[in-house]
Parts: sequence; structure tokens; C-alpha cells
Amino acid sequence: MTWVKVCAENELAPGETRVVWDGDTPILVLNFDGALYAVEDKCTHEDYELSAGPFDAEQGRLVCLLHSATFDLRSGEAQCAPAYLPLVKFPVKVEDGAVWTRDDR
Ligand code: FES
Repeated sequence: MTWVKVCAENELAPGETRVVWDGDTPILVLNFDGALYAVEDKCTHEDYELSAGPFDAEQGRLVCLLHSATFDLRSGEAQCAPAYLPLVKFPVKVEDGAVWTRDDR
């Protein structure tokens, strides 16, 4: 499988986010306190972009704008209704000065 380039490593500082597509899959890549995470940019309640909502860079939490479900970025777990299923997580790596991710399903 091919990795998708997200951006240069220095373009994703702590607290910042990027969205890239791997085929039909939108991937939200985040820098939480210096660690990189990649999740599907889709709330597990309904098909809504999590990148539209705030990223709580203090708690590592994503908030869905549509009905206010929250997710723990590290585990992917839903923290409150109306979402119950965890986020789909993807691999992310830094190589050759850039950030990469892919849909590995
Ligand atoms: S679509 Fe995200 S909480 Fe409903």
C-alpha cells in the first residue's frame, strides 16, 4: 500500500491538524503535544467531518460539531453520546522530513 504525504514535518506543529485523502477516505492528522495521530475524518454517529469541529489540544479530544459527541484522540474511543463506536485509526509516520499516513484497511 502506498503512503500519502500529509505535509512537511515542520508544517504540523503541536495543536495543528491537516486533512488528506487516501482514495475515498478522508484522514484527519493531528499533532497532540508532539505526538502524531491519524483518524478517519468522520464521526461514528453520522457521516460528519470531525475536522469541522474543535480539536481540544489540551485534553487530546475531538468534538463533533453536529451533535457534540467527543472522542479521545489517543484511544479513538467515544466519550459521550450520541457516538458509541470508536474512531477508525490509521498509521502515521515521519520520513524524509515529511508526515505520511494511509488507509490500511
Ligand atoms: S454526527 Fe457527530 S455526534 Fe452526530
